[in-house]
Amino acid sequence: MTIQRIAITTGGGDAPGLNAVIRSAVLSSLNRGWECYGIRDGYNGLLNPENFPDGGLMPLTREAVRGITHLGGTILGTTNRGDPFAYPTEDEAGKLVELDRSDELIAAFKAHQLDGLICIGGDGSMAIAHKLALKGLKIVGVPKTIDNDLNGTVVTFGFDTAVSFATECIDRLHATAHSHRRIMVVEVMGRYAGWIALHTGVSGTADAILIPEIPYDIHKVVEKIEARRKRGRHFSIIVVAEGAVPVEGGRSIIGKEIGQAERLGGVGHKIANQLQQLTGQETRTVVLGHLLRGGSPTTFDRLLSLRFGAAAVRALDEGCDGCMVALDPPTVRYIPLEEATERMKNVPLDCDTMLTARDLGISFGD
Ligand code: F6P
Repeated sequence: MTIQRIAITTGGGDAPGLNAVIRSAVLSSLNRGWECYGIRDGYNGLLNPENFPDGGLMPLTREAVRGITHLGGTILGTTNRGDPFAYPTEDEAGKLVELDRSDELIAAFKAHQLDGLICIGGDGSMAIAHKLALKGLKIVGVPKTIDNDLNGTVVTFGFDTAVSFATECIDRLHATAHSHRRIMVVEVMGRYAGWIALHTGVSGTADAILIPEIPYDIHKVVEKIEARRKRGRHFSIIVVAEGAVPVEGGRSIIGKEIGQAERLGGVGHKIANQLQQLTGQETRTVVLGHLLRGGSPTTFDRLLSLRFGAAAVRALDEGCDGCMVALDPPTVRYIPLEEATERMKNVPLDCDTMLTARDLGISFGD
């Protein structure tokens, strides 16, 4: 089938580089003579077009994507409450329930005579894309997440920007921690995978790094701090992933709403309180949170995003669908969505960066 018009959607949490992917995919499409449309707020532009006064589909012309490569966020808008297979909807009693609206979405897609879809998102968005592909939509996924936890690609775009910013923050915190002889606990994003904490912690020379893959014993962290004090180092930097789990106890979950993934938060404060009590040393917490998702993409992320956007269009053009573009240096290849979604990419405990951290004497609380 020859392609005439395609749509692009951005789903889940935003990440630096989304606009670069959009621009690259749009120009690559226009240069093939295709028309291009952006679906607003995930799939909401097609599911609830009445909520968008300018239309749920945004024509993506050259003008629409001019000068956006370096901008954070997404010009299309996004949502992490828009899974068409479990769409949060009020029932007759006004209670929120999850409704399967995937057939409606496919019908709207066809009514707009769209021939293909580029879905830019993380694990949740790729799982949705896979299910839509099984229902017959021609879809190519583009792996996005600052968490870097998507399987099948060496790295996702957004990760480098998040780590670069977090490392800069730790550099700044060193000076104040040193001057005040304090323990600084820095909480970074990373629900189930500790990539951001690990890369930031090693690059920023943290003393302990607590990641979801290794349940931590707070007493082991205290041992590390005490050992430093004995060597005359009166401050410590502890990097904690939001999904870090103690050996006894669970993740710090602050809520779970219908149609949404569980929300995490609070582990940094919890650890800081424990460390202050156990060491008697003044302790402060910094939660970097959404700051890691904002800002301009680094050069690495820009280039990766531009490469991913163009590769997604090439994939559609070559008749490949139900796949995701993936970085496999030196190339970008296409892998089945099934492979991308079959498991989460956690930090392998024997990977080189972990071994480096261990050799440097960084504690993982184990
Ligand atoms: O982008 C992924 C992520 O950064 C997770 O690490 C984090 O838990 C989540 O987004 C938070 O997203 P939001 O606050 O937008 O629901």
